Amino acid sequence: MPAYAIIGGQWGDEGKGKIVDYLSASADLVVRFSGGNNAGHTVINTQGEFKFHLIPCGVFWPQVTCVIGNGVVVDPDVFLEEIQLLEAEGIDTSRVKLSDKAHLVMPYHTVLDQLEEKARGTESIGTTGKGIGPAYVDKVARSGIRVYHLLDQKGLREKLESTIAKKNEVITKLYQAPALDAEEIIAKCEDWSSKISKFIQPAEMIVRQSLSDGKKVVLEGAQGALLDIDHGTYPYVTSSSPSIGGACTGLGLPPAAIQNVIGVFKAYSTRVGSGPLPTEMDESTATKLREIAGEYGATTGRPRRCGWFDGVAAKYSATVNGFTSLVLTRLDVLDGFPSIKICTGYKLNNKIIDYFPSSAEELAQCDVVYEELPGWTDPTASARNMKQLPEEAVRYITRLQDIVGVPIDLISTGPEREEVISIRKIIR
Ligand code: GDP
Ligand code: IMO
Ligand code: MG
Repeated sequence: MPAYAIIGGQWGDEGKGKIVDYLSASADLVVRFSGGNNAGHTVINTQGEFKFHLIPCGVFWPQVTCVIGNGVVVDPDVFLEEIQLLEAEGIDTSRVKLSDKAHLVMPYHTVLDQLEEKARGTESIGTTGKGIGPAYVDKVARSGIRVYHLLDQKGLREKLESTIAKKNEVITKLYQAPALDAEEIIAKCEDWSSKISKFIQPAEMIVRQSLSDGKKVVLEGAQGALLDIDHGTYPYVTSSSPSIGGACTGLGLPPAAIQNVIGVFKAYSTRVGSGPLPTEMDESTATKLREIAGEYGATTGRPRRCGWFDGVAAKYSATVNGFTSLVLTRLDVLDGFPSIKICTGYKLNNKIIDYFPSSAEELAQCDVVYEELPGWTDPTASARNMKQLPEEAVRYITRLQDIVGVPIDLISTGPEREEVISIRKIIR
């Protein structure tokens, strides 16, 4: 049975959490492969409203095993908080597995993330401040702490003593900030070790075995393709690979195991943090949309910047990921807008360009070519089939599908699990 990858097609917050929860009804495994607790995935179902940063959103289905793969960076405090929250809900957490190869987000990563952002001044990226960038830097520099290091406290003490001494040099000398207490961090690791060891597994083997046993595996993407370290709007990106390539490296999966790549897109665009958003709305329209939709970050609470649907960026994202299906979310948010714009092209120096610029500076210089479609007054909110949609909404959906060139197989019409229109079954 192939794996189904659910990938954010834009700048994150497309509604992946809701879609993963919905699609996991028929899954056996739900797996995170990249990012860390910079992600904030909202799930609203019969048990309430939850925001997960690390635990895969399939956890509410009792048949699902939840795996955090090697490509994820894990802050154990956040992991344990989520475990506690689930246990308080009476949910069996023995189904949660944490890869021994995943890297840890350590307290010095969080401190450095915040100091680096401050030092960037007007050039700041607008990171979530959760230590994600510095944790991936250490991973790539081959000086990271992996989950399995928690199982060898003596070795870990030695490693941490030298690592923290080096980090303190940077913290105190470069940033003139107070040094961190190595003993405090080592004691924290001992505590983490005693609480986390029961979840630690060679988790990638579980995923591969499940696939060869014919089980259904859902890969839960975090962030979005346009925040990808290689393919996103660099340097205004995250430090991992949220695109499909990250699913292979972040789980040790061969590409052929992933047959279906599902791109999740909002019916418009949002972005939280700095960097170009070519279709950004004027402030009064953005404020109206933000208030209707509650467009505030699930991780940091920051207001999200809002824009119209960007067809050029979406097509680029579909090319990078090879989407086989699209999911369109938050259609209901556009209910009542008198007209709706779609970006169909970019102009650079007054010439239409047929590519998504490699540089954020060039992207920021682009003018947007819009097509304007009539809005609709009858609500799409909570619709469960296409017949319930106003004609103009159907026209809008059809146009988006034509622009991106990939079928829209599922439409989300509200934040709750059952508020969807299923056009073609995604997980078979
Ligand atoms: P994720 O990071 O991609 O999982 O998305 P977030 O959870 O950060 O943000 C998506 C927000 O949209 C959440 O508040 C969801 O509850 C909400 N949401 C998801 N789908 C829909 C939808 O179709 N309509 C509306 N109105 N809200 C939705
Ligand atoms: P989900 O999974 C939206 C953004 C940050 C910032 C940039 C770098 O909920 O869609 P980082 O802390 O990763 O170094 O910040 O990336 N960012 C997200 N934006 N949704 C996310 O995750 C994000 N994760 C990171 O706002 O612009
Ligand atoms: Mg989010």
